[in-house]
Amino acid sequence: MISLPASLGIGRELSSILGLKHLDIVYKLFPDNESYIRFPAHVGGEDVILVQTTYPNQDKRLIELLLAIDAAVSQGARSVSAVVPYLAYARQDREFIEGEAVSIRVLLRALKRAGLNRIYVIDIHKEDSLTYFGEGAYNIDPAPLFAEVLKNGLHNPLVVAPDLGAERRARSLASLLRADYAVIEKQRDRITGEVTHKLPEDLNVNDRDVVIIDDIISTGGTIAGIAKYLRSLGARRIVVAASHGLFVGNAISRLKASGVNEIYVLKTVEKILSSDNINVLDPASLIAGKLHETLCTCSD
Ligand code: R5P
Repeated sequence: MISLPASLGIGRELSSILGLKHLDIVYKLFPDNESYIRFPAHVGGEDVILVQTTYPNQDKRLIELLLAIDAAVSQGARSVSAVVPYLAYARQDREFIEGEAVSIRVLLRALKRAGLNRIYVIDIHKEDSLTYFGEGAYNIDPAPLFAEVLKNGLHNPLVVAPDLGAERRARSLASLLRADYAVIEKQRDRITGEVTHKLPEDLNVNDRDVVIIDDIISTGGTIAGIAKYLRSLGARRIVVAASHGLFVGNAISRLKASGVNEIYVLKTVEKILSSDNINVLDPASLIAGKLHETLCTCSD
């Protein structure tokens, strides 16, 4: 297990859970800010697991990952796997406007071509994107971690997905919480640009605790809009469960002002801004489970 500069301490935790040898990569920056990567020991013939998240700075962290994969392959590693808690560039998963680059396709293909055999990602934006990597790509569902902290203390809970793309997440968490779930319908007025939200008509949220689940909080705009809407319907408490808390700009105050009571995110990115209503959950045990399950069946 080799920790890269943005391993978040997860490489060390995984090694201790799984009983694997752990090393930190040798890393430095050249005066012009380019990254230098070197393995501290020979990894020829070894099954190497690299750990590196990719936010912030997405581009730099991805280059470092590519450098490490190349170095492992050049040394003759038997296999190279990467644990990437947050995989950047995943939201551009198709060509929305003709001529756009499909960033997740570019990235997963580049990692594969560099020699990566397996990749483990937490809650990728669209699970289907992993087909760009081909065999050996694993998405880790964060629902068990959220369910563990939310299972007690919710009053008549309802899990809400901000859009159809997030329905899978809502279904998974709702089933662990034995709760209902619903998908919000979002409409944008073509003339004023105003966004309105709608839940199924027969659904009553009055006096209920609502959990909004999503993959990413970036500016906080998506969740803040939904939280305001749910408050207007009489929701009692609003809890947010989102895997990756990027919290760009004034996202935290925006979420607070919208009526969100508590936020749960995972430790998947560097420097999560701390605040009294943000709880950071450690995904190491979940990742260790997936590594154990898959590496034990695919290595000889
Ligand atoms: C979009 O499809 C994603 O799932 C998130 O809902 C989105 O990235 C959140 O962004 P923001 O916090 O800026 O609204």
